[in-house]
Amino acid sequence: MTALPPSLISTLPGGYYADEGVFALEQAEIFESMWFCAVRAAELDRPGAFRTVQVGRESVLLTRSRDGSIRAFLNVCRHRGSRLRTEESGQVKNAFSCPYHAWTYDLEGRLIAAPNLTRMPGLDRSGYGLVNVHVREWLGYAWVCLADDPPSFEADVVGEVVTRLGAEEPIRNYGIDELAVGRRIVYDVKANWKLVVENFMECYHCATIHPELTEVLPEFADGYAAQSFVGHGAEFGEEVRGFTVDGSEGVDRIPGVSEDQDRRYYAITVKPQVFINLVPDHVIIHRMFPLAAGRTIVECDWLFREDVVGRGTDLGPSVELFHRVNLQDFDACERCQPAMGSRAYARGGVLVPSEHHIGEFHAWVLGRLGAASA
Ligand code: FES
Ligand SMILES: [Fe+2]
Repeated sequence: MTALPPSLISTLPGGYYADEGVFALEQAEIFESMWFCAVRAAELDRPGAFRTVQVGRESVLLTRSRDGSIRAFLNVCRHRGSRLRTEESGQVKNAFSCPYHAWTYDLEGRLIAAPNLTRMPGLDRSGYGLVNVHVREWLGYAWVCLADDPPSFEADVVGEVVTRLGAEEPIRNYGIDELAVGRRIVYDVKANWKLVVENFMECYHCATIHPELTEVLPEFADGYAAQSFVGHGAEFGEEVRGFTVDGSEGVDRIPGVSEDQDRRYYAITVKPQVFINLVPDHVIIHRMFPLAAGRTIVECDWLFREDVVGRGTDLGPSVELFHRVNLQDFDACERCQPAMGSRAYARGGVLVPSEHHIGEFHAWVLGRLGAASA
């Protein structure tokens, strides 16, 4: 094999993106071990509202309990293992009743009823509640962690944002927990989750595939992603009036956004599965749900001021810009995925200088996997 010139560094070998064995290891060591952004808290708008999400190999059931807090459980009945709910979302009145033999759990996960329970005198109900999953709320989302002993949320999640922006205050200015979901689009991407992360981290492709985005953010045409520089936000072009598909005026600005954050776009990757995009009048948040080595569901929320959404403002031009970017990006990821199993990519590819920071992501993945297999 020829040695690489200093300007290039290797990617991971193709197998890391195609091998189900590697993916299973990632599910255990990454998605089931770290904080995972699961649902928008406002979706659980009253006690008994629920959502089910896939986190690693587990289905997680999130609901709002009577005391107003969000609870999360493994979606597994303690009797003989039936899924309690198979729908993606819904509403129960007071309890989750298993569709198989009707064991019934309250909104705190306690076993409260089961047919013939009185004829099982030795059964201690407290030992048969739903298995709890840790929950934290931040930025208006419920984040879950399946680890028995979760890592520090402050270090792992908030820390990523602070590393990127230089402090926590800049993100607080956007009041993300107060914003309303103006639009949600769910993408079924036939590509490995790491390809989606890597694509988000670099802008070498921006000039090729993102004509609308580079029109709004001219510096992106140079290929250097704003993410590489602490605290830097990409500036809107001079003629651009808003972060919209045609550069037209956007909607009302988020009140806390400071003067130096105005007319700028900030992108943040919160490993392993969240992307945060900040512009003065909205925030775009991507959450990835990796389902297989070659398949990732991406739920993308466009968040605006509540009054902007409430009065029926036309969000179309704002949403359309990043929706196009998403389609362009996911199309590129899908174009790479089939090649991950090719002989031509067995040793992987290369990263050019403007992509070198992706090497840190690769090192991080290998570290999580204990550099074990593949
Ligand atoms: S499996 Fe749930 S009640 Fe039997
Ligand atoms: Fe892109």
